[in-house]
Amino acid sequence: QMRTGPAQQSTVCPYACQRRTTTANKNKRFTDALEVLVEYHELTEIEGPRVAYSRAASVLKSLPWTIESMGGTEALPCVGEKTRTLIQVTGWYYSYIVLNISDQEYILFTSVFGVGPKTADKWYRRGLRSFSQILADPDVQLNRMQQNGFLHYTDLSRGLSAAEARAVEAVVGETVRTVAPNARVVLTGGFRRGKEFGHDVDFIVTTAEPGRENSLLPLIMGRLEEQGLLLFQAHHPSTLALKKIPCRRFEAMDYYSKCFLILKLEGSRVQGGGQAVPAGRGWRAVRVDLVAPPIERFAFTQLGWTGSKFERDLRRFARVERNMLLDNHALFDKAKNQFLAAVTEKDIFAHLGLEYMEPWQRNA
Ligand code: CTP
Ligand code: MN
Ligand code: MN
Ligand code: MN
Repeated sequence: QMRTGPAQQSTVCPYACQRRTTTANKNKRFTDALEVLVEYHELTEIEGPRVAYSRAASVLKSLPWTIESMGGTEALPCVGEKTRTLIQVTGWYYSYIVLNISDQEYILFTSVFGVGPKTADKWYRRGLRSFSQILADPDVQLNRMQQNGFLHYTDLSRGLSAAEARAVEAVVGETVRTVAPNARVVLTGGFRRGKEFGHDVDFIVTTAEPGRENSLLPLIMGRLEEQGLLLFQAHHPSTLALKKIPCRRFEAMDYYSKCFLILKLEGSRVQGGGQAVPAGRGWRAVRVDLVAPPIERFAFTQLGWTGSKFERDLRRFARVERNMLLDNHALFDKAKNQFLAAVTEKDIFAHLGLEYMEPWQRNA
């Protein structure tokens, strides 16, 4: 019998990187509501409420038991008064937030690939309230990414199943083997964490030949294009040589060569048929991200790109508890004034004095 008293709650650690969080979320009812609030608060510059709700959701996701009432949640870290109220009245509070907030259009707008909070806000302020209004407005200028976001909206907003992600992995793997037989491709992001569902598929591509990582992505994109599978590409060449690491700014993007793609996934490649592939067409659009770090930075890239709030808390833990700076490039010990090398993710956890967590335990 599982105890749900304070004794058990006292074992909930304050940082997500100290908790094992699988995809088996026992408090989805509450975390879904909290995540709507997180998304809603992304509109504002004030990060307090967003961070607070986001951390509370992470804590609830890690619990091995289902919360039945507000009572007994006092001892949980990061679960404040507002979250406890939400737990108490989740039914109507959730509906209120989702159905009655005027800014729900903002959440709709940011669901388009290429549309971030700034653009969504701009459109909202212009009085635009629907996709058809945006597309009909002669003064709205869509960039290439947004044009493709709208063009493939139905497919992309559907997300991908794990079976579809495996099919994408096979396509990308074959492509890389053709153009760069010595390169290695590994799955990262949500599907590495064992998620059954995701909004894209993320891969790290590496090679042991120094400097060659920067030519990999153009080769791969070229081959995808030849096969008629490349619907959209945005390539960002590496700026690593120009930058200082580790990034001083928390949550900064990394400097590696990377590309954001929309690929054509043929239904015949998906085991079990791929229910999301429209029958008459035989293919669907999928979002794919590729990143190509130099081999000596692989462990840091892998840890960073595996993602979720686990990753954010790992950086915060490093900074606050260890006086170290962690990002997708490196781990820097400020007291010793030196970089700490790592070949595997386990090395990084060890440097931080944390128990190793498997990728499927990082679904914070
Ligand atoms: N990432 C990044 N820079 C980007 C995009 C992604 O560094 N421009 C890295 C981040 O480290 C992020 C990880 O890729 O944590 C995964 O991001 P994302 O694909 O958005 O999230 P997932 O966790 O994979 O979830 P899903 O795709 O299912 O939404
Ligand atoms: Mn992803
Ligand atoms: Mn995402
Ligand atoms: Mn991604």
